[in-house]
Amino acid sequence: MTSRQSLLLFCLVAGLGLPLRPVVHANDETSPPATPVTEGAETAAQRGWRLLTTKNYVPADFTEAVFNDLWTVWPEPQRQQAAEATPEERRRMAFERYGLLERPESAGSGPPLGYTSDGQGGWAMNCLACHTGSVEGQLVLGSGNSLFNLETLTDDIRLAKKARGLAPRHMEFGRARMPLGTTRGTTNAVMFGVALWSLRDLDLNPRLNLRLPSFVHHDMDAPAFWNVSRKRLLYCEGSAEKGPRPLLQFVLVPQNSGDKIKSWEGEFADILAWIESLAPPVYPGSIDRDLAAMGQRVFEANCVRCHGPQGPGTKSPEKVIPLAEIGTDPVRLHALSDEFRQTMHKGWFGEYGKSEYNLEPTGYVAPPLNGIWASAPYFHNGSVPTLWHLLHPEQRPVVWRRTLHGYDHARMGLEIQAFDDLPADVQRADDRREYFDTRLKGKSAGGHLFVNELTADEKQAVLEYLKTL
Ligand code: HEC
Ligand code: HEC
Repeated sequence: MTSRQSLLLFCLVAGLGLPLRPVVHANDETSPPATPVTEGAETAAQRGWRLLTTKNYVPADFTEAVFNDLWTVWPEPQRQQAAEATPEERRRMAFERYGLLERPESAGSGPPLGYTSDGQGGWAMNCLACHTGSVEGQLVLGSGNSLFNLETLTDDIRLAKKARGLAPRHMEFGRARMPLGTTRGTTNAVMFGVALWSLRDLDLNPRLNLRLPSFVHHDMDAPAFWNVSRKRLLYCEGSAEKGPRPLLQFVLVPQNSGDKIKSWEGEFADILAWIESLAPPVYPGSIDRDLAAMGQRVFEANCVRCHGPQGPGTKSPEKVIPLAEIGTDPVRLHALSDEFRQTMHKGWFGEYGKSEYNLEPTGYVAPPLNGIWASAPYFHNGSVPTLWHLLHPEQRPVVWRRTLHGYDHARMGLEIQAFDDLPADVQRADDRREYFDTRLKGKSAGGHLFVNELTADEKQAVLEYLKTL
């Protein structure tokens, strides 16, 4: 067992109390990217991991004391259950409510993986809050956090602070102006970037003639990090050239000066090196190899023309499929204004016009599909819960609710309950966030109907093949 696998195991025993079945990444034996360094020189990727998990790039959102008291603002019956629970059990309940994960080295205290401590009791959010999740209860580094419930967390923080007479901080201010994520597992991350960027000029100085941008709020599913190494262009419409600068958008909070942000470029190059060191996780279930080989032939005949070959070492063709052809939800494509795209390109982020930037994207990129079994839900908006539903468009649920840790090995993806409508007793906002309603703006599960050309047997074979990627 590698040291990283032991860490994962430790995390499971100490933190989550879940079964001992660590997820193995394809490159685990050669270069475990997340191994803490004890001796010798750090690689760029190791430095990136250390920075990500220890350095505060934004001010703390809340304190550990406030976090530990959040249960006092929960609705009943959870509040009563928490009141009667041990502190360890209460922490587990809070982690589940907000979709937070224990750090690999955690002994059940301190900040979750997606937050760093400021050394004075404060916890600040980091990239991993959205960019590392779990599958069937197992931590999978670099998978989108499909459990994250940022809006519920922020609403509870606001109430808990208010009860203690504490002042709100930037997340609660942001929440007062915009939705943060209306469904568990997805966030309005793209609009966070628009909001933060509107406060700066092209050179990252505070902008004097401040004009509020136009917002098109919509929730997104964070893409898996292990495919970044196969890409040249970032984001679902392939807009920005890969590099450390675009990744610094998240730290544009007013408390960070432009000079400070620029001085972090090298550190973000290390963070990008960590991201690019991640290999896709290997499917732990059984695979029917003959069926998968048949599925590979179906994939080559029907899917490669857009997604490209998926073998090790292959680059993604990053083919942009026009919206009219792909037919998935259109909101994200039109959400960024021409002005926003131009300023991103002309300013420091776009290396003053030198980096490649797609100013007029026409559709969505057909993404690489490595490790696809572990990155449910599917499509850029996370509207389709399993690969089977992706392959059977007419069966995609109108409304669905996931179980927290279940994995559907028959349909490959989230274990869900499907509904024709939101259940009538779902009234509270925190309850509503547990349901993905594909009828809402930006949440359509339509499109990608090329799969209808496949026979039922071909679909079954492709599903088997997708397990091998
Ligand atoms: C609030 C959630 C959230 C946080 C925090 C966040 N991201 Fe993301 N990230 C997203 C979403 C959603 C996307 C997809 C955006 C799109 O395609 O339009 C994304 C896209 C990316 C991509 C492009 C991936 C690809 O395959 O195209 C990279 C790289 C990335 N994020 C890195 C980071 C880094 C580094 C940080 C921390 C500095 C960070 N993110 C913080 C949600 C988040
Ligand atoms: C005409 C181009 C095209 C063809 C053909 C095509 N796809 Fe796609 N596929 C796309 C695009 C574009 C997306 C991204 C859509 C989005 O996120 O809105 C996508 C998304 C997906 C996803 C979800 C990826 C994710 O990370 O959420 C899977 C899985 C997938 N395709 C599998 C297949 C399979 C299997 C086939 C063949 C049966 C196939 N595709 C054929 C263009 C295509």
